[in-house]
Amino acid sequence: MAARKSIHGEWSSRWAFVLAATGSAVGLGNIWKFPYITGENGGGAFVLVYLACVAVIGVPIMMSEIMLGRRGRQSPMNTMRVLAVESGHSPAWQYLGWMGVLAGFLILSYYSVIAGWALAYVFRTGLGWFQGQTADGVGHIFTEFINDSESLLFWHTVFMVMTVVVVMRGVRSGLERAVKFLMPALFVLLLMLVGYAMNTGAFTAGLDFLFSPDFSRITPASVLTAMGHAFFTLSLGMGAIMVYGSYLPRHTSIARTTFMIAGADTLVALLASMAIFPILFANGLEPDEGPGLIFITLPLAFGHMPGGLLFGTLFFILLTFAAWTSAISLIEPAVTWLVENRGMRRMGASLAAGTVTWLLGVATVFSFNEDSVLAFDFTFAGETKTNGVFDILDILTANFMLPLGGFFIAVFAAWFMNREASRDELELREPAYDIWRFLVRYVTPTAVAIVFLNVIGVVQF
Ligand code: PFF
Repeated sequence: MAARKSIHGEWSSRWAFVLAATGSAVGLGNIWKFPYITGENGGGAFVLVYLACVAVIGVPIMMSEIMLGRRGRQSPMNTMRVLAVESGHSPAWQYLGWMGVLAGFLILSYYSVIAGWALAYVFRTGLGWFQGQTADGVGHIFTEFINDSESLLFWHTVFMVMTVVVVMRGVRSGLERAVKFLMPALFVLLLMLVGYAMNTGAFTAGLDFLFSPDFSRITPASVLTAMGHAFFTLSLGMGAIMVYGSYLPRHTSIARTTFMIAGADTLVALLASMAIFPILFANGLEPDEGPGLIFITLPLAFGHMPGGLLFGTLFFILLTFAAWTSAISLIEPAVTWLVENRGMRRMGASLAAGTVTWLLGVATVFSFNEDSVLAFDFTFAGETKTNGVFDILDILTANFMLPLGGFFIAVFAAWFMNREASRDELELREPAYDIWRFLVRYVTPTAVAIVFLNVIGVVQF
């Protein structure tokens, strides 16, 4: 069969793909979410479950997604349809792409609000708001901020505009350029923060929390959160990596690029946590602070370290960039579909997708406002959640939609796509191919199913 070509363009090289996919993977998930859910779920044991999920579930699914994307060379819906029909199966597989697009909208709607926090903190840090502040003072600034819905709405809007502008410009000029310098810079800054954390006097306490597992803290819900986060942080289960794979030049090793992306992503999450927890313990703060965790601990550190004004500002700039390169990939599947099936131009498609997401985001803005009806409390699998709609969106997408999407991607790649096609596309030698196939055929779907079933057993609304 003659190889298909994408109408949306192609990456200029393998490196461009690795950078873009890493740009998608590394984002708020690593620096904002991973530390706070680790804090909420008791540390070490949670980290271990998360790492196991990345290795056993995340890596094989990432390989599958890139493989399907490059084989189909279209939006996830059209890719799934074409590949299913080609292997003699029902075109209904395209609905998997639809679930992904929906997940992308829902995730981006709240992702953009949180990215807006980072953006606001660029200015607050730069203007010296945190210089010499106490833990209480920093906490107070944060609480006031998230209750100020107008402000949140403003920053959410700025961030959505930034995202739409890049997506409009398309694969090469838009997406590629943005990531080339930002990822390495973020990495260096994180290393510096870890260096600072080493001198807080609580570095060992931080490492202890992160790496000494206490399995009594593990519940079915925390395992679900760890698994969901493996999907979220690697951008899996919704077609983002599939779309990026569709722009990948032929004969690039999918396995090798996957290892690079997953490795870099994991490293960033661990580095961020190794900076945050020592700072937290050194200041007598609690690890279960929730979504505000990094917006309280880090400004506190920046307010006291030499050069903190500069480094702090730089940090929030880079965090915003990391979020930006992820946000782009969250609407890319929808945009490619609008271009392919609705005959829209990239510009109109990006605007349409951006507007829908912006509107949805308003619900998250009010989820943090104590006076709003959208900021209700509820219990999920024995855990209390306090940020209403935001928490619902987060649990629904990260813990259910992404793993479900990943489950079907694995099932399709292993059970429905014909063997020759996947072997041809992955270009793996034995036994690597057989290991991949064994994982996606048996291990990944079983693991996801077991975690789901366990949670269903304890869920009460
Ligand atoms: N991986 C991103 C992060 O960790 O911040 C979030 C994300 C991007 C999730 C793209 C899903 C996705 F498709």
